[in-house]
Amino acid sequence: DTEDELVPRSPVVVVMGHVDHGKTSLLDAVRKTNVVSGEAGGITQHIGAYTVEINGKPITFLDTPGHAAFTSMRARGAMCTDIAILVVAADDGIMPQTVEAINHAKAANIPIIVAVNKMDKHGANAENIKQELTKYDLIPEEWGGDTIVCPISAKTGMGIDQLLEMVILTAEMQELKANPNRAAKGTVIEARLDKNRGPIATLLVQNGTLHKGDLIIAGTAVGRVRVMTDDKGRAIQSAGPSIPVEITGLAETPTPGDEFDAVADERMARQLVEQRKQAEKDAAAKQASKVTLDNLFA
Ligand code: GTP
Ligand code: NA
Ligand code: MG
Repeated sequence: DTEDELVPRSPVVVVMGHVDHGKTSLLDAVRKTNVVSGEAGGITQHIGAYTVEINGKPITFLDTPGHAAFTSMRARGAMCTDIAILVVAADDGIMPQTVEAINHAKAANIPIIVAVNKMDKHGANAENIKQELTKYDLIPEEWGGDTIVCPISAKTGMGIDQLLEMVILTAEMQELKANPNRAAKGTVIEARLDKNRGPIATLLVQNGTLHKGDLIIAGTAVGRVRVMTDDKGRAIQSAGPSIPVEITGLAETPTPGDEFDAVADERMARQLVEQRKQAEKDAAAKQASKVTLDNLFA
């Protein structure tokens, strides 16, 4: 894309942190919904994608699970986003999946904004969390560093407006841009097989615009976008950069983390599938040879 084709796009923000520190509650408070109460055992088990308008500016949020079992989801969440909100419960402090989330955000090279949650709880003290953060090279701004730390309560709503302001400020400094006038491209966020509707995929469009009827290849799965819905379940005809959508129409269920591309015709789709399958084989072969070498030197 040339410079004059690029237009501003809204930020994509991943919410990460240890299990039960309040990631979904925070997004519930932002969206004024109640997803937490509908979750089995109160544990998030998939990535949720939501777009919210804050003072007329859309922000897309990815909610991730904090349970130890979902490492790859947290890594995936960080890879296709612009900013990470790290939720740390004030009464629990930095825990194993908090550290893991910090590492994923650092690997993805995205700025981390820390939300010290549950400040409504008796004895909650954000200063203790700030002290702990310094051990992971996250130095609060007020201590001369560049990490924004916002004390919040997802329960009472305290501090959430300030947190969102910081997200918008951070995004503005990034000058995020994309070209809506090209074939869509992005990442498979989630995918499942529905026994009635077939493969269903949540896609994050990162560049271009995805249209209903587009021929797409997601990983090595091919198909035409049959039904496309937004995060509120409404049928839509097109989705531009930074917009998450759910689609049906793929012949197979793609793998979360896969790249997707809209392509011009079946021939191009077949070519891309062949290339990706070959790349998968090469990677597998490389992995296999590495195992042999590792064994030799073990
Ligand atoms: P996982 O997705 O399973 O990792 O959890 P989560 O980080 O999304 O946490 P969740 O929003 O499910 O909240 C966990 C528990 O903490 C719930 O019982 C919430 O009601 C409670 N909780 C969340 N935020 C706050 C808060 O600000 N104050 C208080 N007192 N409780 C909170
Ligand atoms: Na939870
Ligand atoms: Mg959750």
